[in-house]
Amino acid sequence: MSEESEGELEARLPEGESFEPPQSFVEQANVSDEAIYEEFEENWPDCWERAADLIDWEEPYDQVLDDDDAPFYEWFVDGKLNASYNCLDRHIEAGRGDEAAIEWVGEPTDETQTYTYEGLYREVNEFAAALRDMGVEEDDVVTMYMPMIPELPVAMLACARIGAPHSVVFAGFSADALATRMNSADSEYLVTCDGYFRRGDPLNHKEKAEEGLEGVDHEVETVVVDRLGEDLDHDLRDAEHDYDDLVASNAGAEVEPVTRDAEDMLFLMYTSGTTGQPKGVKHTTGGYLSYVAWTSQAVLDVKPDDTYWCSADIGWITGHSYIVYGPLALGTTTVMYEGTPDYPEKDRLWEIVDDYDVTQLYTAPTAIRAFMKWGEQYPEQHDLSSLRLLGTVGEPINPRAWKWYYKHIGDEECPVIDTWWQTETGGMMVTTLPGVGEMKPGSAGPPLPGISANVVDMSGDEVQPGEAGYLTVDRPWPGMLRTLYKNDERFIDEYWTEYSDEDADEWVYFPEDGAKIDEDGYITVLGRVDDVLNVSGHRLGTMELESAIVGVEGVAEAAVVGGKHDIKGEAVYAYVITEDGYEGDEGLRDRIVEGVEDAIGPIARPEEVIFTPELPKTRSGKIMRRLLEDIANGEELGNTSTLRNPEVVRDIENKVRGD
Ligand code: WTA
Repeated sequence: MSEESEGELEARLPEGESFEPPQSFVEQANVSDEAIYEEFEENWPDCWERAADLIDWEEPYDQVLDDDDAPFYEWFVDGKLNASYNCLDRHIEAGRGDEAAIEWVGEPTDETQTYTYEGLYREVNEFAAALRDMGVEEDDVVTMYMPMIPELPVAMLACARIGAPHSVVFAGFSADALATRMNSADSEYLVTCDGYFRRGDPLNHKEKAEEGLEGVDHEVETVVVDRLGEDLDHDLRDAEHDYDDLVASNAGAEVEPVTRDAEDMLFLMYTSGTTGQPKGVKHTTGGYLSYVAWTSQAVLDVKPDDTYWCSADIGWITGHSYIVYGPLALGTTTVMYEGTPDYPEKDRLWEIVDDYDVTQLYTAPTAIRAFMKWGEQYPEQHDLSSLRLLGTVGEPINPRAWKWYYKHIGDEECPVIDTWWQTETGGMMVTTLPGVGEMKPGSAGPPLPGISANVVDMSGDEVQPGEAGYLTVDRPWPGMLRTLYKNDERFIDEYWTEYSDEDADEWVYFPEDGAKIDEDGYITVLGRVDDVLNVSGHRLGTMELESAIVGVEGVAEAAVVGGKHDIKGEAVYAYVITEDGYEGDEGLRDRIVEGVEDAIGPIARPEEVIFTPELPKTRSGKIMRRLLEDIANGEELGNTSTLRNPEVVRDIENKVRGD
């Protein structure tokens, strides 16, 4: 936990105001009776059968929850199922094969593709057969390093079909990041592509993948999707296979979905933590799939006839849960967009909503803040009346942005759900149910039915309404991570030590977020309390950033903090001490920025690099990040008397102000 005190968390609280869910929405909502909270409470953990009932089981489970080996919980014990069957076959068996599963919208305005359930089924089967031919066996981890192209969900579902867990690495991550993840997962297979479009220009992605593979310490078989055709030439090297050729040579192949145990791994997803090494979060087949199907139904109000759109990238958990698995398990149409919201014009998203009659839109506060800045003239150019629900995820949303979204995108007719959750939780945890709860801008809402989340002080006691504290979850849930890949010890250390009482076998999950709770039990999440930044809704560990910076020649020491940013929420501020003989000049600044982009990716690019002769440290030698944050944010500096070197603070402050 950081040195941030509860008093400082208070400063992040928004003002209060509330809105009732629109009646037109309530009348048709999947969940509209508030009795659901009580039903789940009285019937816990069996209430989760309701989630499990949304999917098809090959063999029924014997027990809903096994907590004998807590916190290594098991859900839907001995149940057998296949995720790909649930996302494809069963909808076709129900006669819905001709309906659209994925509406893919390319960045170039003339490129779109509709995958029906039948079409998606066919390609998934063909690619699953190809993966098998390549030697992929059940439980082999297949890495995907791909942008938002349809072959990504195809590859994920093909893996699920043959029981091979996937590990998707965000395409914006660097070659180094790919290598680290492939090494950590012992992954011997990679699916990637030649490149993709960014703002009209073809971008070479294969080069980056190849560079990454140089850092992988074992042999890898690679599949390359030819996304760009003539716009970018590429050659295939040894152990590289062309995706289209593989699929064509397996034309018409059918692959029996492999029977998976409920607790078998469906996928791994790496995320940033407080130490340098990313954490391989393990999600399972039965619990995860049930949970994302349930939350898609209850919170996103997904119905089979909807055209639902989550604008996240599949390279993050939001895309896994709410572009791919949740919506497809429910048999709806899920939209996938390749490009950015401002290409070719700042109305691109609204054009897509209009063209496809999108019914739900799920996006991030950082995007909403950008829309707000661009102005309402862009959404006003389009008919957005097909929208029925709006959602946000990834970071706290300020009430102003919430209200703008509600008014200018939803026309005050759509509930806005502010959903708090994490890579580790698999699915949504804290949010209003859109057909039930009143909405309070800036506050996510109560924990979902069956979820027990609290806000506590440092000793674990619940705080008074209005006081800031730490968010905790004291009961397990089906979508929870099961462990960190091959690292049970770190799993316990990271999440289960702060507030659990091991001797009493009482396990409390600590998500490392600060929060407050009001009289109605609404939780406002205030942000991370560990050394993790949230830049545009993306988690970045300060340790990862610092080690990237210290790896640059000429840098002796570095401290990274988050500075407030209008659009990104938080931006990376790097305080750097140079090595003797090196100047803190433009050249070094550029090399630092480049070093961070190489080690992590452009999303981690430092907004400011501040050269300083010293860093403020406590007498025990710990860097006082809080002071550096205050400086970055232009705030009044707190008490500096506990510092070993208080004089350095003014120097740094003058430097930043002088910038
Ligand atoms: C933050 C993204 C406030 C939080 C699904 C959490 C939020 C981290 C919200 C997880 C929200 C996510 N309000 N903060 N509605 N949703 N966060 O793993 O700090 O990429 O711990 O998962 O994002 O980020 P992750």
